[in-house]
This record gives sequence, C-alpha cells and structure tokens, in this order.
Amino acid sequence: MKILFVCTGNTCRSVMAEFIFKEKIKERLGEAGVEKFYIDSAGIMADGVSVISSNAKKVLEKFYGKKFNPSRKCKLFDDKMIENYDIILTVTNKHKDIILSNFDENIKNVFVISEFVEENGDIDDPFMGSVEVYENTFHRLDFLLDKLLDKLNILEDNMKKIFEINHPLIKHKLSIMRDKYTCVSEFRNLCNDISMFLGYEALKEVDVFEENIHTPIKSMKAVKILEESIAFVAVLRAGLGMLDGILKILPSAKVGHIGLYRDEDTLKAVEYFTKFPKNISNMNVILLDPMIATGGSIVDSITILKKHGVKSIKILSLIASPEGLKRINDEFKDIEIYVAAIDEKLNEKGYIVPGLGDAGDRIFGTE
Ligand code: PRP
Ligand code: URA
Repeated sequence: MKILFVCTGNTCRSVMAEFIFKEKIKERLGEAGVEKFYIDSAGIMADGVSVISSNAKKVLEKFYGKKFNPSRKCKLFDDKMIENYDIILTVTNKHKDIILSNFDENIKNVFVISEFVEENGDIDDPFMGSVEVYENTFHRLDFLLDKLLDKLNILEDNMKKIFEINHPLIKHKLSIMRDKYTCVSEFRNLCNDISMFLGYEALKEVDVFEENIHTPIKSMKAVKILEESIAFVAVLRAGLGMLDGILKILPSAKVGHIGLYRDEDTLKAVEYFTKFPKNISNMNVILLDPMIATGGSIVDSITILKKHGVKSIKILSLIASPEGLKRINDEFKDIEIYVAAIDEKLNEKGYIVPGLGDAGDRIFGTE
C-alpha cells in the first residue's frame, strides 16, 4: 500500500508524519510491515531544495533517538502522485481542498489525516515555532498515526475478501445510477445489469461437475454448474432490484427472501419476513442488497442465514461504506463481499456518501 503525506513546504508536518509513520510500522509490524507499505511525503508549495526544518529534526531525533537523513530534499506535490498513491493524507482541510480544486474535484483517494481516522481538526503549522511547538505537533501526529495504522490494518484484513470490481462498464453504469436525475425505469435496469456483472465475478469459483453431452459433431464431457445448489437471497425491499439481473446468469437457481427495513431513528435493521428454499443449509447462498451502509442489515441477514444452518455465504452489493464493511468483517471473518464501489463514508443520518440515495425508494419509485 502506498501512502503520501502532504503539507505546504514538505519541511515540517508531512515529513514528520512520514518519519513517525515509518517508525510505527517498524515497531508494530516489523520487517513484514515495512515491505507492505511505501510511505513518502510532499508539499503543495515545496521548492524542491529545502530540507527538514531544524526544530522538526530535533524533535524527531529526541523522540526516536536516531538521526534524520539531513540531505533529504522536499518534494513538490504533482498530479502523478494522485495516480501513484493509494491514499493521500493532508494535514489540514485546506490542503485537501487545494488538491481537489487544483487537480480534480472527483479524486477519491485524498483525505485529511484526522478525517481518515474519524477524528476532527487540522494539524496546525509549527513553521518557525519553538521546539515546544514542534513537540506539540509531534504528539498530535503520534496520536493520529497510531489510529491510522489501526485503520489500515483493518482495511488490509478486509481487502483479502472484499472485491471491488473496477470494470469501466460497472463504473459507468453505477455513475448513471448515482445521478439523481436518472429515472426509475433506467435505475432498475442498471441495478439489474450491475448485479449480473457482480454475479459473474462472485461465481468464478463455484463448484462444477462434468456431464456427457453430444454436440452436433461428437460427444464430450461438458462442464456444468448445479444451478439448484445456488440460492440468491434478496434482502427486501431493495435486494429485489438485483434479482432479475442475477437470475439472467443462472435462471434455475433458487430464490429466498429476508424482509428487513432499517429503522430511520435507530438505524437498526428490523426483521419482518423470511422465506427460504428447502435445504437452504446445504446451498451456496448469495445474499443480495444494493447498499451496505452501517452494515446492520447484512449482519442481521447473515445471522438469520446461519441460524438456518447455511455454511456458504457470499454478499453482492452495489455500494458499501468503509464503516459497514468493517462491521461485517468484525463479526464474520470468512465471508466474501463483491461490490461495485466502496464509497467515502456514512453521513450523520447513516446514508452513504456520495452513494445514490435510498436504493429501495429509487427502485420502487416511493421517494
Ligand atoms: C436499505 C438498503 C439496505 C439497508 C442498508 O434498506 O437496501 O438493506 O438500507 O443499511 P444498513 O447497512 O445501515 O443496514 P431500507 O432499510 O431503506 O429498506 P428498503 O430496502 O425496504 O427501502
Ligand atoms: N440505505 C440506502 O438505500 N442508502 C443509503 O445510503 C444507506 C442505506
């Protein structure tokens, strides 16, 4: 994973963040961690010749008892860095705004450090300050970067079984769905199209068997899927919007339903209906819900399926929040999740940002 810290001149805050974070990785993850991460820093107004400020160097050397490379020159932030780094972390909101407005406001990998770790506030500029001022900056960074490492470890764990399908066709269709001016019928069609593509990915390791068939030319052993061993389970209502699409690829699969709605005040999922095919416990279940917001509906659905003895579960969803994915991962380590996009975050009302609004309402025109 490649991470870039960004401040103004790349002589104080970002370079301190780079140094501290590299040390934390070494301390907590050892050499294996060092290999997993590539960490650097840059400044949006760096002149390319200045070196770390003397008080920043003093403070780093005081806390880590080792020498900072004195010849390291500051680096100017540029657009290639946006492509080359997985995550770009700025020290203040203003730095993030400048990057978005100067490069592209739709960039998805730029965050304020505090925002990324679910804290608030900027890291104030210690430039020209006393050693004490730099020590305060050190402590603030130390706190936030501990949280950063926690979060990245969790994300990495999640990533092993979270598949964000980055096909341009999926992204294109999802972009039209996100647009608030897209009408109900088009929204429904797109939801089905994307579900079909996600299903194609999720079924790539499904069990197959061989059967003798006769082509017009000769007989052969042909590979087939036992369609009846697969159950698509839709979380009502919005999961219904994925069914037609996914049934196009396996029309003889069985279908189940779990009736849940999210209480808008508590954000908790409330169960009102369940109906499963016979023998569901022996089937490969693919759970369908277009939105993973807090993750509550999916966690409850998995719990219901597990109570019915189901052992094999995969999740298909259009848009997930990082918070929802974390929650599912915390509760169930072994479940694969296929999504068309992982969005930025949840807002205070539990909606995914930027998301697409209320999926159920948009599918059924009940807005
Ligand atoms: C939506 C969506 C998910 C749930 C996600 O359903 O379809 O099921 O919210 O939110 P969560 O991850 O926070 O649980 P909603 O409760 O709006 O019901 P609906 O599908 O009947 O509209
Ligand atoms: N449910 C939705 O349909 N959309 C959201 O953004 C969150 C929950």
